[in-house]
Amino acid sequence: MPVRVGVLTGGGDCPGLNAVIRAVARRSLDRGHDVVGVRAGWRGLIEDQLEPLGPREISGILPRGGTIIGTSRTNPYKVEDGVRRVLANFAQHLDALVAIGGEDTLGVAALLYEEEQFPVVGVPKTIDNDLSGTDYTFGFDTAVSICTEAIDRLHTTAESHNRVMVVEVMGRHTGWIAVMSGIAGGADVILIPEHPLTVEETCGEIEKRHRRGKDFSIVVVSEGYKLTYASGEQREVTQEAALDQFGHVRLGGIGESLAREIEHRTGFETRVTVLGHVQRGGTPTARDRVLATRFGLAAADLAQEGRFGRMVALRGNAIVDIPLAEAVAELKTVPEDWYDVAKAFFG
Ligand code: F6P
Repeated sequence: MPVRVGVLTGGGDCPGLNAVIRAVARRSLDRGHDVVGVRAGWRGLIEDQLEPLGPREISGILPRGGTIIGTSRTNPYKVEDGVRRVLANFAQHLDALVAIGGEDTLGVAALLYEEEQFPVVGVPKTIDNDLSGTDYTFGFDTAVSICTEAIDRLHTTAESHNRVMVVEVMGRHTGWIAVMSGIAGGADVILIPEHPLTVEETCGEIEKRHRRGKDFSIVVVSEGYKLTYASGEQREVTQEAALDQFGHVRLGGIGESLAREIEHRTGFETRVTVLGHVQRGGTPTARDRVLATRFGLAAADLAQEGRFGRMVALRGNAIVDIPLAEAVAELKTVPEDWYDVAKAFFG
């Protein structure tokens, strides 16, 4: 029986979102269903902003960055009457929903499923790769590739000027992007929130390297790293104190503070590059396109089978599905053994 399948993208945009939308839509349209795009994440269901996604709308979107249906960080649980409006608009226009998002968007999906038996399936998205239950999220590979290329480019200028280059990358509370791009780019020190090296240790590694005859260094720092001192003191650097509807502060600026400390303590000339949203922009890598496509097809199948409250996930090389609640229960942090790989090349 034909049904109406909604698709929603929430949270920060991420390369590969359009590839998921295309896969969900293609598979569902092939089954004779109607496919509907929900505008700007959960806000679209609160405000009843929907648009049809037919063959024409999804044509040519596979390599496009961003999301053709828009995104937002709206949390219906934080908007007056938000949940009731989501449920009412959904009941009027849709039969099933594919929610593509990270911990916040999928956290809402998990709650709606638990409390309201809302027919939703999840697709894990985030450049940060911090969602539990899946080995990788799509978008991460693209972000790591962009950061790696940037580190490669910074190497040649660092070398020419005998400078320390601090590269600040995204990742919020986890250091996946920093560790992977740092390993790939041959960083001399990598600083992440999970295993915070102190400022003194960082300067020690740089000085050790200079004693070995190298007169430039690359330091990759994850935005969520707190300036940590041997005394045990820690200092978080944020852009503004205000929290968003999911309780997040806006991170950013740690690179600058760290660079000042390094220059002051070592005497080496130091520069900072903040990669920011460049990491999320533009076309996804082939790997992310393939992962996003596989996730999208699997999510459409879950919706078809009525297996709601689940999220598609990558385990090894296989696409599996797990309870949404399990995926959002805790953040997937960088384990010690991954950081050990990075540390083998410090100094
Ligand atoms: O979660 C993805 C992410 O890019 C984080 O790495 C970063 O901290 C945050 O989003 C930035 O959010 P915004 O798009 O609101 O600046």
